[in-house]
Amino acid sequence: MEEEKKLKVLISEEELNARIKELAKQIYEDYHGQEITFICILKGSIFFTVELAKRIPSDINFEFIRVSSYHGENSTGVIKMKVDLQGDIKGKDVIIIEDIVDTGRTLSYLKEYLKSKEPKSLKVCSLLDKKERRVCEMEADYVGFDIPDKFVLGYGLDVDEKYRNLPYIGYYDNV
Ligand code: IMP
Repeated sequence: MEEEKKLKVLISEEELNARIKELAKQIYEDYHGQEITFICILKGSIFFTVELAKRIPSDINFEFIRVSSYHGENSTGVIKMKVDLQGDIKGKDVIIIEDIVDTGRTLSYLKEYLKSKEPKSLKVCSLLDKKERRVCEMEADYVGFDIPDKFVLGYGLDVDEKYRNLPYIGYYDNV
């Protein structure tokens, strides 16, 4: 990870932990301690999903979906389903757990797709939100941090599968 030296910290591990704790409390209260189904959007949301779920003292079921629309740092705009749901979400309170909302295309697609499975409720929780980049109307119900239009890495987020395991959110200063 030689390039790591050029990375700057945008959101530190401490800031992430503190904000995730707040989000967990808010979700726990909003759902009155009822069971929730988290749909973790692979692979970027794995760290966030785990850290959020650990802090919510209700029953949480986990489902996983993997879609792809990115090559390197660019969105192709075409969403492909790579891993589909395994369980039935009909009648369940569902929250989609996403790493970042960028153009909004992925979540617009996923929300429509998941609505067709007839959950009792469907919300979106995203760790990061790059509102400036939106091309689809997409408002997450829970947002960790609004961030500027920078390509960010770490805490699950990658560029060509690298940097996911950084414990903070970073960015390159020189781009
Ligand atoms: P959207 O469909 O454009 O909203 O993009 C959502 C997906 O793009 C996220 O789940 C990420 O996988 C990826 N993505 C968007 N912005 C970034 C970024 O700054 N760093 C890493 N991945 C990103």
